[in-house]
Amino acid sequence: MTTTNFYKDFDFQLLNNPEFKEDAVREELINPILKGLGYKAFGHNRIVYSKTLSHPFVKIGSKKRQINIVPDYLFEINGKYTWVLDAKAPNENITSSDHIEQVYSYAIHPDIQADIFALCNGKEFAAYKKDEKEPLLFFQLSEIDQHWDEIQKLLNPDAFVAQQIVQEAKTEYKTSSKNDFDYLDRNSLQEIKVKKQAAKRHFGVHGYFTKQAWNVVQQYIINYSKQGDTILDPFGGSGVTAIEAMMTKRKAIHIDLNPLSVFMVNSLITPVDFNLLADEFDKLEEKFTKHLPQTKQEIKEALQKYPYPKGNILPKGSDVETVEDLFSDKQLAQLAYLKQLILKIKNESCRNSLMLAFSSTLTKINLTYHSSSSRGINAGNSAAFAYYRYRMAKEPIELDIWASFRGKYKKLINAKKEIEPLINNSTIKNAKILKGTATDLSFINNESIDYIYTDPPYGAKIPYLDLSVMWNAWLDLEVSEEDRKLEAIEGGMQEKTKDEYVDLLSQSINEMYRVLKFDRWMSFVFAHKNPHYWHAIVDAAEKAGFEYAGTVKQSNGQTSFKKRQNPFSVLSGQLIINFIKKKTPKAIQRVNLGNDIYDLVIETIEAVIAQNEGATLEQINDELIMKGMEFGFLDVLSREYKDLTPILMSEFDYDQDNEKFHIRKNMKFKTKIPLDMRIKYFLLSYLKRKETQGENPTTDDIILDIMPLLKNGHTPENQTILIVLKNIADEYEDNKWRLKKGGQLKLTF
Ligand SMILES: C[S@@+](CC[C@H](N)C(=O)[O-])C[C@H]1O[C@@H](n2cnc3c(N)ncnc32)[C@H](O)[C@@H]1O
Repeated sequence: MTTTNFYKDFDFQLLNNPEFKEDAVREELINPILKGLGYKAFGHNRIVYSKTLSHPFVKIGSKKRQINIVPDYLFEINGKYTWVLDAKAPNENITSSDHIEQVYSYAIHPDIQADIFALCNGKEFAAYKKDEKEPLLFFQLSEIDQHWDEIQKLLNPDAFVAQQIVQEAKTEYKTSSKNDFDYLDRNSLQEIKVKKQAAKRHFGVHGYFTKQAWNVVQQYIINYSKQGDTILDPFGGSGVTAIEAMMTKRKAIHIDLNPLSVFMVNSLITPVDFNLLADEFDKLEEKFTKHLPQTKQEIKEALQKYPYPKGNILPKGSDVETVEDLFSDKQLAQLAYLKQLILKIKNESCRNSLMLAFSSTLTKINLTYHSSSSRGINAGNSAAFAYYRYRMAKEPIELDIWASFRGKYKKLINAKKEIEPLINNSTIKNAKILKGTATDLSFINNESIDYIYTDPPYGAKIPYLDLSVMWNAWLDLEVSEEDRKLEAIEGGMQEKTKDEYVDLLSQSINEMYRVLKFDRWMSFVFAHKNPHYWHAIVDAAEKAGFEYAGTVKQSNGQTSFKKRQNPFSVLSGQLIINFIKKKTPKAIQRVNLGNDIYDLVIETIEAVIAQNEGATLEQINDELIMKGMEFGFLDVLSREYKDLTPILMSEFDYDQDNEKFHIRKNMKFKTKIPLDMRIKYFLLSYLKRKETQGENPTTDDIILDIMPLLKNGHTPENQTILIVLKNIADEYEDNKWRLKKGGQLKLTF
């Protein structure tokens, strides 16, 4: 039986005292349960206290005044309400139909729609499933220990997350199993709210340099492919694409040059016998703690006896020279001892699972581990992941190795349990996790892939192979000279040039084109502030035969370290460029802007600022890149305006508090572009975007959407917008507009 200790100092006789009311029940008895279940006031598993809801049916008085209802606790998990709890005073009966009906009405409220509702009066706790008469759970609080496992199973946030996953897969099955999935009729996705930490399969098991937000990748996969399709990510990294493909009942091909990536993903998804794994873990604990090298003499002996990495050179810029220099002798000895114990385990899946937990432990047990000042000593990261450099911690923290390992093991078990409903012995054959290069996919047949979602390296930012040396060395994973040559990065130990990087990326785009079926999509993530790379990618994709199908802004839910250091030089968000492989692709229509695009840049910045009532550097940069992509002036932009900071600082006001740029006080909009040109520019951009989204705006939509962009002291007449509109677009059925086909798209200033 689990011992909760929640009420060890509480005298249950107090409940008979009439002074002990509902608020005391909340404070003394309910709150410890909620904390024990893992709910917090903020974050993904949050409690919403006393939310005011308007009563859906009841209104009173001749003026029909709205009645409000206020449930005591609502539990929001991943943005959805999952259950409701109401506190009562100890003298109130929580099984009386009046009270039950009241809480039931909260659960079925249109703004809540929770499946479970519960009541607690300090003495008893009852939880009901909507539409079921008998309680799912009923216990005396004084006997909570006897029921704790049952309570956890029903009300723990993880239980709801697991249900959500199965539910989402079912809903998606319903939508995409219809035979009418039309690959050509896909609307582009708008920015998706990131839920990074909400999936155990991607959070906490093993760090990596950059990870895509799993829910974004999942939405893209669902949007552009159907169940049973084959999804490829040739720059797979930590495996978000492959895992989400499997979680949505597709087949997955994951490729990465970094053996660490392949090891991580394989070890995570390979099915394992949980009982056997738990046995192996217990045996390991016993052996490890029995002979753990602790004294100087024991450490010395362990270092002679057990192998550990020796002589593996760290990348340039590291604070020390070799992998072994990253550890104290004690850390080296204990890690080496743990590793050799794990390697003796016979069952391969158990061994690999525990090696994965070991590799993840390395992230914490080394002298470059930086603890988090805000989230505590356990919540830090290794410098290679956090700063992209082997930077020694000023004051290294020596965490307890077994405690770290146990923590990682638990996270791995939770992750494996989360994926088990969809990734198991009967489906694992649908995943191919391979070490290889995106530049040569010759083992994949022509026209055999249904969708590609990929996130390649970002120029010079992260040399993955160099930086993975600590993990690869401990895992005995080889990286050859040939691998280094093929790595699509700029700089690194091989000092690759920008041209070499672009060339490797282009080769991989050619391969992606070859393996993709016709009328299928590729989504290409990019997060580099220098637009030159965008230009290079779109050019390479068009040359390969892809048709450009629009770019979407998408936050990845994190601010990079560099961005925090220097807010004006690095873009923190990312864009997703979508391409389609068509038999007769259209090339992007380029616009001749002349050489001076300064006004256009200012115009665009002013428009983003006006639209958002102040804009951040990221919003401005993303908008410029997208405009540049759409109109083909990205090359000029990248040549002339590498760094926007000088323009922004000289032309606009910067508000430190909200990190937004604003139009200078008392200043008119700056641009000198004539009004009809401005209208034309925005109309073109707007209609093109609508076209890629598969929407057909009406005259009213157009006027309403375009007008705010032109706020410039004098607002144009609707008539002026219409005249320009007729010039560049055709009107068809019901007052709807689309761009003239092959029409004149020249903008000259
Ligand atoms: C931006 S990361 C991908 C991160 C991934 N999207 C995730 O969510 O974890 C880029 C990956 O490309 C890999 N890579 C670099 N050059 C490669 C090549 N030529 N072929 C295959 N993978 C390569 C790196 O090892 C790295 O894992």
